[in-house]
Amino acid sequence: MIHVLAVVGTRPEAIKMAPLIRELKQQSWVKCTVALTAQHRDLLDRALAAFDVKGDIDLDLMRPNQSLGEITGRAFAGLDSVLRDMKPDIVLAQGDTTTVMVTALTSFYQNIPFGHVEAGLRTGDLRNPFPEEMNRVFAGKVAALHFAPTAQSAGALLSEGIDPATVHLTGNTVIDALLHMRKEAAALKLELPEGARLVLMTSHRRENFGAPMSEAFGAVRQLVEDREDLHVLFPVHPNPNVKEQVDRHLRGHPRIHLSDPLDYEEFTAAMDRADLILTDSGGVQEEAPALGKPVLVMRRETERPEAVEFGVVKLIGTDANAIRDWVGRLLDNPDDYAGMSRGVSPYGDGLAARRIVQAVADHFGVETGQDRLDSFDPERAARA
Ligand code: UD1
Ligand code: UDP
Repeated sequence: MIHVLAVVGTRPEAIKMAPLIRELKQQSWVKCTVALTAQHRDLLDRALAAFDVKGDIDLDLMRPNQSLGEITGRAFAGLDSVLRDMKPDIVLAQGDTTTVMVTALTSFYQNIPFGHVEAGLRTGDLRNPFPEEMNRVFAGKVAALHFAPTAQSAGALLSEGIDPATVHLTGNTVIDALLHMRKEAAALKLELPEGARLVLMTSHRRENFGAPMSEAFGAVRQLVEDREDLHVLFPVHPNPNVKEQVDRHLRGHPRIHLSDPLDYEEFTAAMDRADLILTDSGGVQEEAPALGKPVLVMRRETERPEAVEFGVVKLIGTDANAIRDWVGRLLDNPDDYAGMSRGVSPYGDGLAARRIVQAVADHFGVETGQDRLDSFDPERAARA
């Protein structure tokens, strides 16, 4: 029996690890334990509940407006004893949060192999996104297994000198999650008048706190005031730095619908209903193209260039003119809109979790008896 410890800290990790945890739990050769750092609390709990996944261990680390140093310190102390007590055969974590960086380093210190889910995403700028680029570079340095979602992310790892035998091209588990959730078919609770155009908006990146967020949100307010058919739905991230800017610029307008974060079922329904999506989120950049929704990204750089290259995601930054111009262009120009809403899925085909489980089995020399899958073929998935 191979003991796999899956560590999960925040909402996006829950969404992207859930399909893998569910797959691991079906394997007769795996004992799967789920440890929650709870770097996020309510967001994490709701995302896990959407997939019926429960934590076996809960470090309950989140504090209001936590600093990077505080959450990092608490995560080290908590995970160090979890790994020492449990002595798993392998530890898995996803992405680029503080939880992942600390999980990787703690596993390294205790000589336990670490498998990095969503490996190899890079902007090449250590401070952008901050601190995520540093977190994932760090995780990549110490990982024994790298689960790269795309050919470009696999290529980035090879160009950093990572042993090719440890790099597996799996696709991103976010598409597994999205396909799973679409079977549940939740409805968007927001009721809109006939003919309303809907922009779905999310924002939470640290490098956008303060002036960039203020400028971007001001531009959105202006757009709504200028266009009578325009509605904005903004499920507000609980980070106090985001709430402050929302209160300053967006509250109090009847066509700006501010809500608590939506459960994943309802958020996928909101993406489906939206005419376009304005976001600085990583996961949303991967999901929306698969749903055929144009995405305008309020960042200067992205570690997810594939959908930009397909022309269905556009990096526009937080400049007010760029936001007003691009939203207006997509709403007013059907050709521009059609070009960005073609429905491509360069990030996955729904089989990423199975490929990761297969690679873990191979690492331990386990014969699972299951049919083997080829590597994810981004070209084929993008055309599908
Ligand atoms: C974190 C990750 C970021 C990821 C994002 C996903 C780091 C450094 N940042 O950012 O990479 O994209 O999650 O959303 O790992 N809060 C709550 N309830 C919650 C969650 C957060 O109230 O369920 C508030 C708390 O005041 C908390 C603050 O948000 O202190 C910040 O949380 P934190 O995890 O440090 O950073 P995020 O901005 O959420
Ligand atoms: N999401 C959600 N409810 C919301 C907003 C986002 O379920 O109200 C989901 C979204 O579909 C995606 C994930 O949360 O899968 C993205 O999380 P976030 O933007 O917080 O983090 P990032 O992906 O930028 O790290």
